[in-house]
Amino acid sequence: MEREPDWAEVDGYLVSTLVGEDPVLDAALAANFEAGLPPIDVAPNQGKLLNLLARMCLARNVLEIGTLGGYSTIWLARAVGPSGQVITLEFDPTHADVARANIERAGLADRVDIRVGAALDSLPSIAKEELGPFDLVFIDADKENNTEYVRWALALSHPGTVVIVDNVVRGGHVSNPDIDDERVKASRAVLEMIAAEPKLDGTAIQTVGSKGWDGFAVAVVNE
Ligand code: SAH
Ligand code: DHB
Ligand code: MG
Repeated sequence: MEREPDWAEVDGYLVSTLVGEDPVLDAALAANFEAGLPPIDVAPNQGKLLNLLARMCLARNVLEIGTLGGYSTIWLARAVGPSGQVITLEFDPTHADVARANIERAGLADRVDIRVGAALDSLPSIAKEELGPFDLVFIDADKENNTEYVRWALALSHPGTVVIVDNVVRGGHVSNPDIDDERVKASRAVLEMIAAEPKLDGTAIQTVGSKGWDGFAVAVVNE
């Protein structure tokens, strides 16, 4: 029978076909809900894309800015293998506690380092401790600081490092130059910064699905 196509239903189909059952990730989402965390984790098919991108660049050292309950962290930590590491930065200690339990349950605690505090405070320590360069950086925290986060990603990169910035489309408002929303302005600023930065080459992709209309930017650090 003919029926109106539906974004969320297509996501359901894609996820059940290509991502599949994942009790560990389901348990993480259930724990996030139980703890009252906002349901702003990446969608399952975007989580898997993060995992695939990390594997495509043979990432062993990953930096994530914005942990929430560790849903995206688990996807990334699975990609780096047993000798790999994910450092993930989270401002809210409650979110970090939920993430710690989820990552422990996933059997990935030995390869994930959660740093609690404002990312712009943690990043200088990470540089000082010489924990870089990172092979992949996933930026998904307070959108207002995205330009600063991309600067830090560059500072902690090597040629070939992949930088991903989540939520740059924001229901389509990104293309409005007169927008009054600070987070949309920040999306425009980070995209324009990536475009103007000779050390980076990037693009952005709109997404629709279970999380509504948004999108992400992907960039690579040039040789
Ligand atoms: N990457 C997660 C979702 C992150 S949501 C996933 O897909 O599963 C954004 C997170 O960034 C929230 O947990 C929020 O507390 C955190 N955050 C906000 N401001 C921050 C800051 N200044 N430094 C570090 N984390 C921050
Ligand atoms: C929001 C943040 C996110 O990282 C996301 O993926 C979706 C929404 C938000 O703050 O509204
Ligand atoms: Mg996000």
